[in-house]
Amino acid sequence: MTRKAVISVQDVTKDLKLGPHTIHVLRGVSFDVHEGEMVSIVGPSGSGKSTLLGIVGGLDTATSGKLIIDDVDVTRMSEGKLTEIRNSKIGFIFQFFNLIPTLTALENVALPIEFSRNRQFRPRKRAKELLELLGLGDRLGHLPTQLSGGQQQRVAIARALANNPAFLLADEPTGNLDSESSENVLRALQSIRRTANTTIVLVTHDAELADRGDRVLTLVDGEIVDEKINTVPAL
Ligand SMILES: Nc1ncnc2c1ncn2[C@@H]1O[C@H](COP(=O)(O)OP(=O)(O)O)[C@@H](O)[C@H]1O
Ligand SMILES: [Mg+2]
Repeated sequence: MTRKAVISVQDVTKDLKLGPHTIHVLRGVSFDVHEGEMVSIVGPSGSGKSTLLGIVGGLDTATSGKLIIDDVDVTRMSEGKLTEIRNSKIGFIFQFFNLIPTLTALENVALPIEFSRNRQFRPRKRAKELLELLGLGDRLGHLPTQLSGGQQQRVAIARALANNPAFLLADEPTGNLDSESSENVLRALQSIRRTANTTIVLVTHDAELADRGDRVLTLVDGEIVDEKINTVPAL
């Protein structure tokens, strides 16, 4: 059985110019991600993980190479079109949650639905359902400061899922959490994958966490140096 590649990264490089110097942050990275798959990208700090995820998610652009999302070459797409794809197809989760401090959990999750052109969801109803799904049904009216780190990250996951994205891109989502909260966040991601068939790319420097993916890519100095396939991923 061959599954469809929904993300295809082809020989992507990223150079950064710092004064007279050029830093080769990514040195020709290629990989595919298949529909419904959870791929982990692991590697030491500074290896280029965040840069790579930013390019995959259209937050950053490659210096050379190609990025194909759902059979569409987005490499040289206009900023406006790219933003549209990002908003409709991709949910992001970051290490520091990035919730809006003056808004409640419910309002944080409802916000991207209110901003979306897509009218398929009623913002507050959808936000409530997602927060309930993530075990936060009794925290709807709480502000981020009234929640633990793990709860804040689950709010951030609900927000990332708000417009029902095909892809969830997570950059060190448990980097700021204790092991029990990390486990809850991981379980939440795995449960989303099972129920909504969301394709997940998880970036982490934690090898144990990375091993929960179907496939683990190791990035060192801007190059993929290893690929491990987990035939029986730990669920
Ligand atoms: N804005 C920047 N200015 C200078 N160097 C940067 C910048 N962003 C990233 N880099 C460099 O790119 C490399 C990869 O960074 P990053 O993608 O953040 O790695 P990781 O997420 O694996 O820690 C690092 O060596 C870093 O020094
Ligand atoms: Mg990083």
